Amino acid sequence: MQLNIPESPAIEAVDLEKKYGSGESEQYALKKVNFRVAKGDFVSIIGPSGSGKSTLLNMMGALDRPTNGKIFLDGTDISTLPSSQLAKIRNKKIGFVFQSFNLLNRISVKDNIELPLAISGTPEKQRRKISTRLLGQFGIASKSENKPNQLSGGEQQRVAVARALANDPPIILADEPTGNLDTTNAEIVMEILENLHEQTGKTIVIITHNIELSKRTRSVIVIRDGQIDEVREN
Ligand SMILES: Nc1ncnc2c1ncn2[C@@H]1O[C@H](COP(=O)(O)OP(=O)(O)O)[C@@H](O)[C@H]1O
Ligand SMILES: [Mg+2]
Repeated sequence: MQLNIPESPAIEAVDLEKKYGSGESEQYALKKVNFRVAKGDFVSIIGPSGSGKSTLLNMMGALDRPTNGKIFLDGTDISTLPSSQLAKIRNKKIGFVFQSFNLLNRISVKDNIELPLAISGTPEKQRRKISTRLLGQFGIASKSENKPNQLSGGEQQRVAVARALANDPPIILADEPTGNLDTTNAEIVMEILENLHEQTGKTIVIITHNIELSKRTRSVIVIRDGQIDEVREN
């Protein structure tokens, strides 16, 4: 007999809440948020500024813990795990991309890309192989020895995407990845994400202010005042 066990979603939020401050300044950035992201889905989160999008993404990425409720990654509740375990999960399972790139300007482009590999203990030869492949794939091989702040914004974001992919994590989370880019470079980064979705089966969640970009993802989560207003399929 074959047991038909349903696959866990990549990400699931159950009555997720986040409160900032206390007493007079107490404020719920998220209130009773419930959703699932299936493995291999490509999701955008849209909503007004201050509606809780980054708070939500940070909790999906184990960068922050909920005040109430649970958040599951591949069936594991990460809301109560100790920091040391969260750091491991971030390193193995999550690739983060930020609006302002968040690269280290003290070290080379190549070393930035290899950083998650160094943290996970990947041997140097293997690290070099992976960074070389990613640098080539994203058209930034000639910048390998430069410091990130010597690159254009579009190039820096490609380095950030390469870094996010270095450990081959199943989940990519991007907080307004095209927010600081001109139209041409925004398009390049969006196409990289689309190709990842089509070719690698990774689960991708992006926050965007750009309605046109959100139409190119498979589903859209609309957040308003810390709550899910609507989930729609494109
Ligand atoms: N570290 C923090 N401390 C206090 N309030 C915060 C913090 N981070 C976010 N907030 C508040 O939570 C709400 C949601 O913020 P955020 O998730 O950054 O929104 P968005 O990404 O949609 O613009 C806002 O009112 C914001 O001021
Ligand atoms: Mg934000």
